[in-house]
Formats: sequence, C-alpha cells, structure tokens
Amino acid sequence: MSATDYKFSGWAGYGPESVEGNLKFIDYEPKKFAEDDIDLKILYCGICASDTSTLSEGWGPVGDMWPQVVGHEIVGEVVRVGSETENGIKKGDIVGVGAQCDSCLKCHYCNKDQENYCSGGWTPTYNGKFSRTSQGSKTYGGYANYWRGPSHFAIPIPAGIDPAEAAPLLCGGGTVYSPLVQYGAGKQAKNVGIIGLGGLGHFGVMLATALGAEVTVISHSARKREDAEKLGAKHFLITGDDEAKAFKGHERSLDLIICTSNAPDMNMQAYLSLIRPGGNFILVGIPETGKLPDIPPTALIMGNVHVGGSLIASPQTLKEMLALVAEKKAKSWIQRWPMSKINEAIPSMVAGNARYRYVLVNEENGGKM
Ligand SMILES: NC(=O)c1ccc[n+]([C@@H]2O[C@H](COP(=O)([O-])OP(=O)(O)OC[C@H]3O[C@@H](n4cnc5c(N)ncnc54)[C@H](OP(=O)(O)O)[C@@H]3O)[C@@H](O)[C@H]2O)c1
Ligand SMILES: [Zn+2]
Ligand SMILES: [Zn+2]
Repeated sequence: MSATDYKFSGWAGYGPESVEGNLKFIDYEPKKFAEDDIDLKILYCGICASDTSTLSEGWGPVGDMWPQVVGHEIVGEVVRVGSETENGIKKGDIVGVGAQCDSCLKCHYCNKDQENYCSGGWTPTYNGKFSRTSQGSKTYGGYANYWRGPSHFAIPIPAGIDPAEAAPLLCGGGTVYSPLVQYGAGKQAKNVGIIGLGGLGHFGVMLATALGAEVTVISHSARKREDAEKLGAKHFLITGDDEAKAFKGHERSLDLIICTSNAPDMNMQAYLSLIRPGGNFILVGIPETGKLPDIPPTALIMGNVHVGGSLIASPQTLKEMLALVAEKKAKSWIQRWPMSKINEAIPSMVAGNARYRYVLVNEENGGKM
C-alpha cells in the first residue's frame, strides 16, 4: 500500500472553552492504516449535541484526549481501501460513519449485528482510542479533511439520498431509528411520542412517521408546532413549566416515547402518565448532570410502564434506516455551514438555533453548500 499524498488536519478543541468557538486547525497523525481500514476525503459532517457536551466537558473531564477533533456524522468519498475492506466499498464510493468506529467484531453482540453493545472494544469515533488494530492510537472525528478507520463501520450512502442530508442520519437518525424499530413503532406501537424537537427529535418524527406510526411531539413551547406538523406529527403537546397540567386529558395515549431531551429536571411522573400499560419510555438524551430525574416507583408499578435506554445504532440498523429514507424519500432538515466557519456554527448550535441539524460542508474537498 503506497503512502498517502494527503495530510490529516482538522478543527481541534484544546479545552472546555473550545465549545465557545475556540477550535484550532491542526495537523495530526491518524492510526496506522490496517488492511480493513479505509481513508475518506470528508465532504460533510453534522454537529451532534454529543460533540458539544464532549467539548464543554459537560459529561466530565476529557483528560488526555485533548486536543481532540470531534464530529461523528461523517460523509466522505473513499480515497484509499485496504485488501480486507468490507461492505463492498471501493475507491470513489460515498460512505458515512457514525458515532462508533470500531468494536471487537467477535463477541456475542458483534456477531448479532449489535456492535453498538459490544462487550469489549467499543470505540467511539472521537474521544476514544483504538484497541483492535493500532492499539492506543487516538480516534479523530469528522471536523476535518480526512478520516481513517475500519470499513466495517462505514455505510454506503444510497444514490437517492443527498450526502449532506445523509450525514446527520449516521448518529442522530440512527439513535432514534434503532429504538423505534426495537419497540415496534408503526406495528404494536401505533402511537409514538417524541420528547424534544431538536436534531434527534426531528429525525424521530420523520422516521416514526415513515414506519407508519402516529406521532405526538412533546416540546417546551409552541415555537416548533408548525415544523412538527410539516415533519409528519399529528399531535403537539406543549409542556410549558408544568408538565402535569400540560398532560391532563392525554393520559395513556402513547405506546412508546423516545426522549431526546437532555433536560435535567423532567417531571417523570407526568411523562410516564402518557404511556399505556405495557408501553415503553426510552431515553436517548443524556443530561449533563449524569443523573436521571426522580421516578416514583408507583409511576412504574401502577401503569405497568417500562423505562429503558438506547445507544446509537449498529451498522446493519443504519443500512436499514438509509434504505427506508431512500424508499420514502424522507428529507432531513439541515442547515449548511462552511466547515471554515466552525467557530461560529458551534456556539449557534449550543444556543439552540439549529432547525434541525447543522451540517459542516468541506468545500475544499468538493462538499456543496
Ligand atoms: N443515546 C445516544 O446514543 C445518543 C446519540 C446522540 C445524541 N445523544 C444525546 O441526545 C441528546 C439530544 O441531542 P440533539 O443533537 O438532538 O440535541 P439538540 O438538537 O440540541 O436537541 C435537544 C432538544 O431537547 C429539548 N430540550 C428540552 N429541555 C432542554 C434543555 N434543558 N436543554 C437543551 N434542550 C432541551 C429541545 O427541544 P424542544 O425545544 O422541542 O423542547 C431541544 O431542541 C443529547 O443529550 C445528546 O448528547 C444520545
Ligand atoms: Zn451523536
Ligand atoms: Zn464485540
């Protein structure tokens, strides 16, 4: 394999103040190329709230991971393949990489298309270190010009989907699609609630609708009602600051709720009252407090309600989601930012301005604004 004639460089955070728009453009050394790896020329990368919670150290100190290049909603063109590249990927293909870039590939879960629950070797696309190959080498994400990593976690983007719109599906979309399918959205779960209309939430509405469910959006304020309806939602509940009052008359109306909000202070008793006996409340939003709001035991017992969580999506689930999006011609709502304006885009995302996902465009590499 010949050496590359390109350099790896990207926008790195050096500390928690980076989330205020202080990322610096640096060169870095990627992992050593393994025969099952690919190199991507990055065209697009979505901005996920997990990027900003990592940069701000909202989930805890990042330690020796500084400096780090975040971004895990990556779409790019394949510019290098190894002799053991998977997924039929060849040079020139457009592929996407989400929040996980490696796993052990041999445990019970990896063998069952559940690499996202791997028992040893789960490697995040940033803020992590490789262990299966290039042990100890840091992972670098998508706010960059090139990406290198295992082809097992690179998903071909179907021709019918705009690659920029595909980017945020790789984390944001998959994270809601996975529990929607697991808990039968559109099948036994006809009535689905989505809490929080942000990046993940808007995909929740779009994908639950595509799966045939009737969707209720549960949002802070009336501001996003019209958007929710355009995305396919049939009902809209405004929590205001008193959820118990807001949900009066809607008790036991939903089979499944996906909670994408990361609010630390939710009135769980009120939210759980919305669920029918036997139904599920699935958390995907991760409050920076690291704690769940209090759940009174009777709210679970009297209502036969199940509370659970879900972590991103496996490569197989991502492929199925992209096939559904292509078939239904479903559209991600994105706003494009030149990657060079990253230090403006990040604070704007933190301020809650995205409608509903910011996508960084690497124009130098041929990404289209
Ligand atoms: N489980 C996983 O695998 C996984 C994967 C990716 C991301 N995540 C997590 O999922 C969460 C959502 O990510 P995202 O990218 O969709 O974020 P986002 O675009 O910022 O959306 C979050 C939404 O939550 C609602 N919200 C309610 N209370 C809030 C509060 N106090 N602060 C902020 N938002 C509040 C808002 O919707 P309304 O205005 O409609 O109320 C907001 O639009 C984050 O915690 C992220 O880290 C988890
Ligand atoms: Zn994410
Ligand atoms: Zn595994």
